[in-house]
Order: sequence, then structure tokens, then C-alpha cells
Amino acid sequence: MDAYAIDCHRQAARIAKDCREWAVQNIRPGVEVRYILESIESTIRDRGAHPGFPAQSSRNHIAAHYCSAPNDELTYQVGDCVKVDLGVHVDGYVADTAASVDLSEDGRWAPLVKASADALAAAIATVGSGVRVGEIGAAIEETIEAAGFQPVRNLTGHGLGRWKVHTPPQIPNYADGSGPELREGMVFAIEPFACNGKGYIRECGRAEVFMMVRPPKKAKGLDRELLKAIESWRGLPIARRYFQNHDEQALEDTIGKLARQGSLMRYPPLVEEEGVMVAQTEHTMYLGPDGVEVLTA
Ligand code: CO
Repeated sequence: MDAYAIDCHRQAARIAKDCREWAVQNIRPGVEVRYILESIESTIRDRGAHPGFPAQSSRNHIAAHYCSAPNDELTYQVGDCVKVDLGVHVDGYVADTAASVDLSEDGRWAPLVKASADALAAAIATVGSGVRVGEIGAAIEETIEAAGFQPVRNLTGHGLGRWKVHTPPQIPNYADGSGPELREGMVFAIEPFACNGKGYIRECGRAEVFMMVRPPKKAKGLDRELLKAIESWRGLPIARRYFQNHDEQALEDTIGKLARQGSLMRYPPLVEEEGVMVAQTEHTMYLGPDGVEVLTA
């Protein structure tokens, strides 16, 4: 990790932290989800950076990847357990952070939110050069189970690279064997999810988040302008909302064609069982020569 790269990660992280804090203050019953997400993304741009991935805010049993459609009118409700997960990139170097908000009137999700935050703190206390990712996962699992909840076992933390939101190593949310070692110079995100269900998510519903995973093959009827706009994100995740100045049908056709040829991946919402509540807390950190620096704290 050279000085320029870490400086870009730091700048991205500062913006991400401010956006997360703004969102936590402004997510309230009656507020539109899309307003929160679009405000985050416009603040990121106003500060001279770009979204590292589309801002997302999942409610209740939806653990991740709820991203508003361009015309989404969904509002937060009293009683919701809300996640907000956002990314910022500066010259391709990404910071990724998330927090949860309890919108119940009696504070009933506060222990769940606290369990995910405490698990993140326990994980960070475990981080060091030579530490295996399985030890991080064990710290997360112990903390969440001690609070009476379950970690979501099929969601993980991850390394962060240039123009890449997910690089090795995966950092499990439970004691999943020993795994690879953390090494000095790594930038990575740890993101414990705590829930009052079994702790497994599955894909459900329409995807609003996409990512180019390989160069597109030439295909008849591919909208060249749209393709250029999609490729300008250089493999970072994107959302339908990013392309509202393009023809809606052309966008659907292009997404469909690219997905069918395997160059574009779709990321639908990830859900636990209906009725289960999920909370998430996430920071991006740098393991430097002087130890861990939590960039989004
Ligand atoms: Co993440």
C-alpha cells in the first residue's frame, strides 16, 4: 500500500463517516428511503468524490442490498430496524461503512444494534498482523451470541482494492476455521450482522444493484452511450438510479443483454426470514506499521 493509495482511502473514509453520521441522524419514520440514499450520493459528489457503490438502506429482515429504484416511494416506518450501508471512492480507492438505526418507540432493537456494534469493536480489538481471519470471526460470533443473538453466517467482511469493493480475504462473521492471515498494508472492512433469527440470508426480489464482472461482448442493439456510461464505473457496483438521464427501456435492454452474456452481475436484496430483525455495523480499516487505523471511525 503506497502513500498515495492510503491517502485516497483516508479521504474517502472521512466523507463516508460524515455521510453515515448524517444518515443516522436523518433516518426517521416517514422519511423516504430514496431521499436518504440520493442525499448521501450527492454529498459524496459535492465533496469531490464518487460513490464506491450505490448507497443502500435495508429495513428489518432485509439484511443488505436494498437500493431504491429511480421512482421508489418507500418510507421508513415506526418499529423499523434500519441499516444504512455506503461506499465512497477517491480515484478508485474505496471506503465502506454501515450503521443501524432503531426506529421502534420502545427501543426494542437497541440491544440488537448494540450487539453488532460491540461485535465490530471486539473484532477490531483482535486485528493485527499475522492474525487469522477465523479469529476475527470467532470474536464476532462470541460477542453476538453472548448478547443472545446470532451472526449472519453467509455474509462477510472483505478486503478493499482499487476499483474493487470486494477483494480477499473474506472476513467471516463466525469462527469459520483459521483462514488466511491479515498482513500489514491491507485495507479491509469488517461488518458483523446480528439477527434474532437463524442467521442465514438468501437473495429475494428485484435487483437494483449491478456490477460489470468482465468486458462486454459485442452484441446487436447494445446502446453504445449507455455502455460507455456503465463502463465508466470501471467495475464498481452501480444502480439504475445512476442512469436516469438515459432512456428507461434502453437501460432495461442493456442490463438484460449484459446480464445474459455474463458480463453484468445482478445483486438482489439479501433477506433473512420474514419477521426476523437484522442489524449491521461496519468500518473500513488500514493495518499499518503502527497497528490498525479505523479509517471510518
Ligand atoms: Co462491506
